[in-house]
Amino acid sequence: MSDLNVKVGLIGKLDMLKFKNMSKTREKAIQAAPASEISGVFPVNENAKALHPDFLELTVDNIIVRNDAKTFVLKNKSGTPLPYFRAGQYISLKLPLDDSLVTRSYSLCSSPKDALKGRYAITVRANPGGYVADRLLSDMKVGDTVITSAPQGFFYYEDLRDEKQVIGLAGGSGITPFLSMARAICDGIEDFELTLLYGSRTEEDILFRGELDEIARVCPKFKVIHVLSDEEKTGFEHGFITAELIQKYVSGGRPYSVFLCGPEAMYKFLEPEIKKLGLPERRFRRKLIDVTKTPWECAGYPQEAKGKQFSVTVRQGPQEWHIIASSDEPVLVALERAGIKAPSRCRAGECGWCRSRLLEGSVFIPQENEMRRWADVHYAYIHPCCSFPTSDLIIDIPGEFY
Ligand code: FES
Repeated sequence: MSDLNVKVGLIGKLDMLKFKNMSKTREKAIQAAPASEISGVFPVNENAKALHPDFLELTVDNIIVRNDAKTFVLKNKSGTPLPYFRAGQYISLKLPLDDSLVTRSYSLCSSPKDALKGRYAITVRANPGGYVADRLLSDMKVGDTVITSAPQGFFYYEDLRDEKQVIGLAGGSGITPFLSMARAICDGIEDFELTLLYGSRTEEDILFRGELDEIARVCPKFKVIHVLSDEEKTGFEHGFITAELIQKYVSGGRPYSVFLCGPEAMYKFLEPEIKKLGLPERRFRRKLIDVTKTPWECAGYPQEAKGKQFSVTVRQGPQEWHIIASSDEPVLVALERAGIKAPSRCRAGECGWCRSRLLEGSVFIPQENEMRRWADVHYAYIHPCCSFPTSDLIIDIPGEFY
């Protein structure tokens, strides 16, 4: 230390003196404060509440039918603007189904501009054999109330990180965050060029065909190329999206980022293709990967656990339950099946909303959903939404937040 030749100016000396006296100054302020609780309306708190509410109470305002999907236009029950969002983010719906309370996240497909008019839109596509999507499609009506989270997630354009040229790769209902981005570009909210390669099986299966083509017609920063896997037609690309096809649509040899959103099979197929492009990691962004339905196919899965059932002791504050969980399903699904109100939002390991303490036992977490902080791994916290039991468990789950 004595070798350091640091010159401290007068202002610096005053700063240091101020710092030294900080605790005394604070103590004085505390003693001088009124004994009664401070009350009143503070604009900063009101703004924070409006932008980051614990939950939203929305009403189904309109339903647009599209082949095997429906777009639900949701409006704020109070009629006021909804929290603004980044194009590409999602909301999580909380749904009472049978004796359970389940959550499902859906990307917003509307423009952020619509939030200011008090509207969000999500699109739900049929998912034969799925527990929630088909129920929403058959049961949700205009006028129904839904409880949702505020918009969240990290799948959006960030100009400090992403290149101005973005190649979007979408499959099936993975089109929704890109539609929101295209609308945001068209509305002048986002400033980047989006070239979208959208994979569908047939021309008839293309979701939002009219909207996408119309935005591409009026907005020079957005292009869409439809890629049909099961049909060969003039005006369409044919086959699967590959590294070669991506390179064909990169404009002028300029740097680009790749954004990906689609079903699990698409991720499996495309990740090796994207590796061939040799992009630095930060230039490849993918939307959350849904938790696999076949954990035993994942690297590192303990095969001896496959097909087994385990007993799980669940603690939530003073309450305790004893339930059975299958090794083939995430712990969160077992909790919901048992009617336990466990918090969750993304259901893919990212948001941390379901973060619970594993007091005893072991779980398997697929590599692509392992997003816990170092400290959480160290102190045995897990995300039940993407943790598959591989032994009997005792877990401590948080209380419900909304
Ligand atoms: S619900 Fe998001 S991490 Fe589990």
